[in-house]
Amino acid sequence: MIETITELDALRARVNGWKREGLRVGFVPTMGNLHAGHYSLVMLARQYADRVVSSVFVNPTQFGPNEDFTRYPRTPEADTTGLEGAGCDVLWLPTVESMYPFGVELAARINVPGVSGVLEGAHRPGHFDGVCTVVTRLFNQVQPDVAAFGKKDFQQLAVIRQMVTDLAFPIEILGGSIVRESDGLAMSSRNQYLSADERPLAAEIRKTLLAMRDAAASGRPRQEVEAEASRRLAVAGFAVDYAVIRRPDLSEPADGEKSGKVALIAAKLGKTRLIDNLEF
Ligand code: PAJ
Repeated sequence: MIETITELDALRARVNGWKREGLRVGFVPTMGNLHAGHYSLVMLARQYADRVVSSVFVNPTQFGPNEDFTRYPRTPEADTTGLEGAGCDVLWLPTVESMYPFGVELAARINVPGVSGVLEGAHRPGHFDGVCTVVTRLFNQVQPDVAAFGKKDFQQLAVIRQMVTDLAFPIEILGGSIVRESDGLAMSSRNQYLSADERPLAAEIRKTLLAMRDAAASGRPRQEVEAEASRRLAVAGFAVDYAVIRRPDLSEPADGEKSGKVALIAAKLGKTRLIDNLEF
């Protein structure tokens, strides 16, 4: 049976008990409205730990003023059942007051320079500061040995890895593969904002990523590949934030560079902003 904990003292007591028994503790932070992508991270963490804690906390500090914080879907009952099925031992449900004891305005903030500033960071100012600010607190609350993050949010994973190295968190970070719908759309809590007309179109993002990979592999210049991807998405009805090819650290590759790369897309379909990526 999964145990739901809402008090920090109780969480600490439970985790300390496990550690005294010599058990390794895994952690999967989420914002709830869970789907198979989240559950795959719980199962991944299970492979590296004896006990798994998952948190559900819709973090106000990572949403911009005009973003979807208040309407972000909240489904606590389904999340609890799903986490239990995935093998999660403890569901950690902090309150906003316990997460930010001095209030959001006075919260100590974490900024990871460089990797936080480009792509998502450029289009959502302050977003990664909010993510790092809450993940630091969650790490200190849970004190896991290992934590799992999805490659769906490729840049978030890169930011977290840099933060963990820079601040010397004694935590191993795992990256979980992207879980997709049958037409290739990456699973996301935000997919349910799509209308019935928009939903089939959304699969165009994945198709464009595959086309970018193939075009890059055939030796086409990177900027030409990126411009063509943006055009293709615009023709399909998207408002494109970016469609780019980057090194795994998100820096710009030189032309003809043979190293591993990642194609990343962020685009809006109607009111819904979607992100996805493909490593190659
Ligand atoms: P959330 O969007 O709920 O995602 C929680 C974790 O699930 C993240 O690591 C994300 O990358 C992963 N995830 C989401 N969709 C996925 C998919 N289709 N396949 C694989 N993994 C997927 O990301 C956040 O919450 C927040 O920023 C958080 C880290 C919890 C801090 O508030």
